[in-house]
Amino acid sequence: MKKDYEKQIQELRKQMTLEEKIGQLQQCGPSLVGAFEVSFEELLDMMFDGRITKEEFERLMGTARQDFHEEDLRAGKVGSYNGIGDAATANRLQKIAVEETRLGIPLLFGYDVIHGFRTVTPIPLAESCAWDPTLWEKTARVAAEEATAAGVHMTFAPMVDVAKDARWGRVSEGAGEDALLNSMYGAAKVKGFQGEDLAKEDSMAACVKHLAAYGAGEAGRDYNRVDLSLQRLWEEYLPPYKACIDAGARAVMPAFNDINGVPCSVNAWLLRDVLRKKWGFDGLVVSDSNAIAECVSHGIAQDKKDAARQAVLAGMDLDMSSNSYSAHLKELIESGEIPESILDEAVEDVLRIKFELGLFEHPYQTNETREQNTMLKLEYRAIALEAAEKSIVLLKNEDHILPLKPGTKLGVFGALAADRGQMTGAWAIGARPEDCISIVDALKTNNVQYQYSADGTDLSKIAAVSDVLIAAVGEMKEESGEAASRADITLKQEDMELVRALKATGKPVVAVLFNGRPLAIPELDRTVPAIVEAWHPGIYAGSAVMHVLFGITNPSGKLTTTFPAAAGQCPMYYAHPNTGRPGGKSKFTSKYLDAPTEPLYPFGYGLSYTDYTYEDLELEKGKDSLLVRVTVRNTGKKAGEEITQCYVQMPCAKRVRPVRELKAFAKTALKPGEARQVVLEIAYDSLGYYDWDMNWVSYEGKLNVFVGGNVRDTLEKELLLR
Ligand code: BGC
Repeated sequence: MKKDYEKQIQELRKQMTLEEKIGQLQQCGPSLVGAFEVSFEELLDMMFDGRITKEEFERLMGTARQDFHEEDLRAGKVGSYNGIGDAATANRLQKIAVEETRLGIPLLFGYDVIHGFRTVTPIPLAESCAWDPTLWEKTARVAAEEATAAGVHMTFAPMVDVAKDARWGRVSEGAGEDALLNSMYGAAKVKGFQGEDLAKEDSMAACVKHLAAYGAGEAGRDYNRVDLSLQRLWEEYLPPYKACIDAGARAVMPAFNDINGVPCSVNAWLLRDVLRKKWGFDGLVVSDSNAIAECVSHGIAQDKKDAARQAVLAGMDLDMSSNSYSAHLKELIESGEIPESILDEAVEDVLRIKFELGLFEHPYQTNETREQNTMLKLEYRAIALEAAEKSIVLLKNEDHILPLKPGTKLGVFGALAADRGQMTGAWAIGARPEDCISIVDALKTNNVQYQYSADGTDLSKIAAVSDVLIAAVGEMKEESGEAASRADITLKQEDMELVRALKATGKPVVAVLFNGRPLAIPELDRTVPAIVEAWHPGIYAGSAVMHVLFGITNPSGKLTTTFPAAAGQCPMYYAHPNTGRPGGKSKFTSKYLDAPTEPLYPFGYGLSYTDYTYEDLELEKGKDSLLVRVTVRNTGKKAGEEITQCYVQMPCAKRVRPVRELKAFAKTALKPGEARQVVLEIAYDSLGYYDWDMNWVSYEGKLNVFVGGNVRDTLEKELLLR
């Protein structure tokens, strides 16, 4: 049960000066200072735009040291830090806060622990392909145990931004294109991060992000505008954030983007009416990095002062890195532009989470010994391997070329096959290349006969002595994640050239993809007989891929994001409405002249080394929910796990509905020849939508129900809902 700290919060808040209150709303990160006169960000820009060379940048970085703003801290002007992930520094700063500030209020340390701290697990998009809430919670627990040992109190995760546009770089950070999957993923993460009791030393608060609809940025370009009907917002984008709040998440980060013209950072409707009033959230709202100040560039605030005013009034508690609150709140309060009671609410939110985390009782929640003993424990590594294996999606396997027979001689190509540092993908700040296992490492340790060439040198020579060729291609970790949108999401030219050259040798080619987003790979699909989608799988990348290649693991992952057949199809997602002219053979239908209407690989799709059939679909109306029963049979020769998906369609409603909506799923282990009845439940409450006037309408009428192993290949039955 949540403990009530309101009395203590009030008492403490009453003792605080205006400056101390404002200090609690200030979150800063360590700044880099060195023999350069511009900010670190500017320096980075200078390197990117060529004003200085990479060598010059590195030389300057060599002179850099971190400035932790200790003087401000001592003066009570800092309430929390972002980006400190080591026990020694955290404790050193905490000591200043506790022992040297007037009121001794402990610091809150936030950090981006997105998919593991040292034990880096697959990127969220990959892990979502396991369709496995137990796994999601387990990996979050590992992340929390390690991160808290390094002094972290709050993670800026989970990210539950539904993402339907593969061009957006941050698709890698969420659970794909579906609201239900993101909801279940987010809730499992919150439970794993926060544990049973937030006050325990190995629990960290979850900061759900980015409220809201950051994934709906126009054209997949990062930070771009979001212009959405309220109906779509409520049906397709808001449910996952709400699910995380319901699961107990204690913090929320508003998104960079605007929604229908009002940036989320100053959006009172979103932060007060929806989040606090409608959803009953009483936790902490933390701005995204510099987001308050960016309201000036959005064109909604005159200057930083105006942005600070709007943000506080809208319900933004903490200012991450923009110094807008620290510079202007005092003046705004003293002039009466902001009532002090509003400021007090924000301060109380900060104090509340600090109480809940047990920081007043145990401000030093870790030490260097615990930190050292916690990282990369054997049991954590086992979970990382399990997660990597379950995340892999087998996209193509013609003539059963996979699994490879023991003793198969391999020719391995592509830099990604040996580059350990690339395996962890975007947003893995604590990752170290030496912790990671590449494909080449795994082959070596397991005495597989192989020859390796990063760039294709000696290609013919290697091919001549190999039975099968492996092409490790895809994206570098910098090519997905924040600020990594791409307009062309096809395979890079040099990758495709390598694959063509391998194919020309006449030896069978297996492509292993390492990437952070769905790619448009029609040519690859035409060229090679087998494709293994490994994503950025984390520290056990190589082992997991090797296990799949040799059939030690039977792949079971299924796509949580549609793979387009052409980059120009984006945004491409399964839950679209039909239009009056659904794409078909006739010219005057909704389609492209130069690309198919169908995706290359549909949502929910993924192959296995065994085969499954579906039979006996039955629907039964229960009291509060619809019961869907289906028999799944393993008709092949290998044991495996099948992910069964249930979709519905409301074919005649007051607002057009998607052709399919995922409503339930289950993962079933099946031995060869075994059949099991899978029962899926769909709450009647979930069978509805918002009408034109934003009233929730429970659906009545004919309902089509689809069940199968992906969204395209399903059994179908209808029933009448009344
Ligand atoms: C990202 C957030 C992240 C924050 C703090 C921002 O640039 O958008 O997702 O949590 O930085 O590092």
